[in-house]
Amino acid sequence: MKNLGLNEIRKEFLEFFREKEHNIIKSFPLIPMDDDSLLLINAGMAPLKKYFTGELKMPGNRAASSQRCIRTADIDSVGITQRHGTFFEMLGNFSFGNYFKEDAITWAWEFLTERMEIPEEILWVSVYEEDEEAYSIWKDKIGVPEDRIVRLGKADNFWELEEGPCGPCSEIHVDRGVENGCGDPNCKPGCDCDRFLEVWNLVFTQFNKDADGTYTPLKHPNIDTGMGLERITMVMENADNIFEINLVKDIIHKIEEISGVQYKTDSKKDISIRIIADHVRAMTFLVYDGIIPSNEGRGYVLRRIIRRASRHGKLLGIKDNFLPEVVDKVMEIYNMEYPELLEDKERITKIISSEESKFQETIDQGLSILEDLIDDAKKANHDYIKSEDAFKLYDTYGFPIDLTVEILKENSLNVNLDEFKNLLEEQRERSRSSRQSGNVGWANEKNDYLINLKESNFVGYDNTYAKSKVDMILKEGALVDSLLAGEEGIIVTETTPFYGEGGGQIGDTGIIKSKTSLIDVFDTKKNKNNGIYHFVSVKEGKINVGDDVELQVDVDRRRDITKNHTATHLLHKALRDVLGNHVHQAGSYVGPDRLRFDITHFETISKEDLLKVQNIVNEAISRALPVEKQNMTLKESEEYGAVGLFEDKYKDIVRVVSIGDKFSVELCGGCHVENIAEIQMLKIVSESSVAAGVRRIEAITGRKVYEVLKEDENLLNELSDELKSEKKDLTSKVKDMHLELKALEKELAKLEEKDSLKGSDDILKHVQETSGIKFIAHKVNDMSVDNLRALGDNLKDKLQSGVVVLANISGDKINFLSAVSKDLAGKTISAGNVVKEVAKITGGNGGGRPDFAMAGGKDIDKVDEALSSVKSIIESLIK
Ligand code: ALA
Repeated sequence: MKNLGLNEIRKEFLEFFREKEHNIIKSFPLIPMDDDSLLLINAGMAPLKKYFTGELKMPGNRAASSQRCIRTADIDSVGITQRHGTFFEMLGNFSFGNYFKEDAITWAWEFLTERMEIPEEILWVSVYEEDEEAYSIWKDKIGVPEDRIVRLGKADNFWELEEGPCGPCSEIHVDRGVENGCGDPNCKPGCDCDRFLEVWNLVFTQFNKDADGTYTPLKHPNIDTGMGLERITMVMENADNIFEINLVKDIIHKIEEISGVQYKTDSKKDISIRIIADHVRAMTFLVYDGIIPSNEGRGYVLRRIIRRASRHGKLLGIKDNFLPEVVDKVMEIYNMEYPELLEDKERITKIISSEESKFQETIDQGLSILEDLIDDAKKANHDYIKSEDAFKLYDTYGFPIDLTVEILKENSLNVNLDEFKNLLEEQRERSRSSRQSGNVGWANEKNDYLINLKESNFVGYDNTYAKSKVDMILKEGALVDSLLAGEEGIIVTETTPFYGEGGGQIGDTGIIKSKTSLIDVFDTKKNKNNGIYHFVSVKEGKINVGDDVELQVDVDRRRDITKNHTATHLLHKALRDVLGNHVHQAGSYVGPDRLRFDITHFETISKEDLLKVQNIVNEAISRALPVEKQNMTLKESEEYGAVGLFEDKYKDIVRVVSIGDKFSVELCGGCHVENIAEIQMLKIVSESSVAAGVRRIEAITGRKVYEVLKEDENLLNELSDELKSEKKDLTSKVKDMHLELKALEKELAKLEEKDSLKGSDDILKHVQETSGIKFIAHKVNDMSVDNLRALGDNLKDKLQSGVVVLANISGDKINFLSAVSKDLAGKTISAGNVVKEVAKITGGNGGGRPDFAMAGGKDIDKVDEALSSVKSIIESLIK
């Protein structure tokens, strides 16, 4: 057996299949393009589905790749078994209707036994139980002894994803020796233990599986194979598991270094180290491929992975953020195949580090709540915690449910996950329905008629008016023949100039007219086939299926929208110029009144940078650059330099919108101006944060800017009239006024203080005495707190020895003050106690120092009673 590491094996594999006339293709990003059925790329064939179905053609019809993949179904086994990882590279060779079983089997065998020099005796194979052809190729052509060929059922030897090309398969397993096994004398491939390691799966792709589970035979049979790069490396190096292989084990060393924990001294800690070694690679590539941590979909996968790794860091005793340091190591290790990781280092590290910090906060708070719940459960002799409690932890404190489950497991407790899911669903439903209020609530994404709509003939790029026929009418989600005046519903026509909401651009509004009706279109949407549907309210008459209609988009509104849409492209370009190429579009909203553009960027964008961005855009607008829209293949668009959102669903033919001489080139299906001079001007109105690492910019264009300018001008005119000052002098005028005002306020305060103290002599006339202590209990009105204090102090001084109690009434508010002279304070009597007892009588509360204290009161009617109680209060306190 050759001794080769990760990089060498990848190279050898691709070289081997290059010799067998395969096109060598680079790994696709982890986000599937144009494939809603899949969250993340999880197999070499996943990004190639269209070649298997025949929709796309590749010269030679053969390909091979090393595809980066993420699989989270077995996340709980990662670190525990020898072979599971959420991140791995899949080596694969593919035939698109070209060679079939015999070549696939022969080459796989040749590669393993001749190139890799793996001894034949340790190789086993499995075939689908009914696949006689594969069985006899293995037995007769290759010469594998029958006792090492295993027939297995559909669960093991039929390979499929949710949707797409699939078929029976044959797997090659390496016998890792009885010492790795379960001990069962009948142990063989198919057993769950670590003895027989499946290294290569050869799929004989013969069917295409639809979303509803129907299998349709493919025109040509194909080959799709997959070999885990880490697994084959583990075999070649005779390593214990997929983490202790060359290069990857450097990650383990890094974790040892940071945590001070030595690997292989504590089996529990070893699991944590392996989990981190796996998860850091997954997170590095997920972030590299444009995913940002969030609570949904791919973002959630990433968040979960970062949080799990961070928690296992805690279990190793690591206190501070440590993931970025390990991520550095990952970049170093993968530099040979993925040099681009290092180029994007700053962004990747920032996103991961920020999520890690956020989690540190969450985890501390959540953990202490969860610990209490666990204690309570144990005290009550329960083996579970309530699903409501787990949901609250998740919903209110952001504590991930997987982590709750994991920690509960460690304490031999559980939680009812079905109930948890119900609570989650109920909550989602609540937020969904609140989002849809005001809209036609039933017309949601779940309506089958809308899901299945075929592509409409959209003529709205060049026209805002069209003639057509009504194809379908829906009322409250059901098909109807007609709609009457006063009714709302959905209308679908063969042809339409109305743009259906998509790519951030809001749907068009306008009118539809037939001979017998006038209809208001208040929104337009489209499904994923580009089937467009109009939300309507019938104003006059009756509209029927089959009626001839005229459709007219609200032109002014559409014009404002197109200006804003083209402006987002300009903003995108300018933001990248000013902030750097780590800036990617993370979302957008393009409406008639304003535009919103979200980008991946880590800190507040400074005022100066925003101004620079705004200047770049406006400078481009002043150059009146033309806007060109072209259709081309995705590949051509890449060569052309187009940027675009991976998440968008692009077809084989994409639409490229370019401004000027490639000033900006983007993939985009939206509506745009012909020349950017039409935008007139762009003004950024705000910059804010939407999520960790995502900034939001809001801006206005065209007539909206003009309106804002006019409003600002009116405001300035009013101000300068009011202040009797030229516009240019307004700032200094306001500054002067401010200073003057401050001086006056000071003056006033002094006068008021004087005034309030003037009354003190009068008050002193009412001195009383009890048990040899002089005291004053007096009511004043509308005094500021400062003046009240000054009066209290002044009275205290004048009394020389005694207790002062004042009640200050302003409106319906009462403040009590008590001041006690030094000789008594804290020794004989405390101001804090006095004021507390006095305030209590009016239902209030307060306290303070022995010599000075204040309190608030409640019931004004009881103020007099409170003041006349001062005497008895003093007496009771000095006892
Ligand atoms: N697509 C096959 C797999 O992932 C090769 O196992």
